[in-house]
Amino acid sequence: MSEPFTIAIDGPAASGKGTISRAVAARFGCAHLDTGLLYRAVGAKMLEGVPPVEAARTLTAADLEAGDLRTAEIADAASKVAVIADVRAALVDFQRAFARRAGGAVLDGRDIGTVICPQAEVKLFVTASPEVRAHRRYLELIAKGARTTEDEVLADVIARDERDRDRATAPLRAAEDAVFIDTSHLGIEDAVEAAVEVIAAKRAER
Ligand code: DC
Repeated sequence: MSEPFTIAIDGPAASGKGTISRAVAARFGCAHLDTGLLYRAVGAKMLEGVPPVEAARTLTAADLEAGDLRTAEIADAASKVAVIADVRAALVDFQRAFARRAGGAVLDGRDIGTVICPQAEVKLFVTASPEVRAHRRYLELIAKGARTTEDEVLADVIARDERDRDRATAPLRAAEDAVFIDTSHLGIEDAVEAAVEVIAAKRAER
């Protein structure tokens, strides 16, 4: 893909959108941005005492690689800073520039198809039941040595979903023209294939 070609992949926590996004980017040879990492990096800075809006305005690539941003504590902080309109506004230009880079780009998040890239050539909305998502996230967390229970992870997933859906600015929701992929009963390979099929069909239309 030498022309800009944006693939927007949105969905709730642990729906499988990250795995699908990485696989799709590798398959089509385009760049991938996990936009949740931007909010996680701002959340991590907030936990260190930096005001969130300042953290968002001064965010650098190095901040995205600083330590493990995929902890439950940072996920919670990310979802809290993501409610702040000025934090979101500070991150828009970077995401839009990434989306239009030559060679194509996959961006995954909550508001890519609705707010960041409403003109994206492909929009996917990846879902799964809260129980399935909590189970996946639980396995990821204990594999990293975290001490938690599946019930605790389910409660966190539900609380974060509510915060992400109910916020006033850029809430989690599917774009009207998004294609839904429900991964509750799909293995990784089948979920990736479903996404690849949609994208390949859109690319063939061009
Ligand atoms: O995708 P994730 O779990 O890493 O995202 C962490 C939090 O960041 C999520 O709870 C909400 C927020 N987020 C957002 O508001 N908008 C995005 N495009 C991506 C993430």
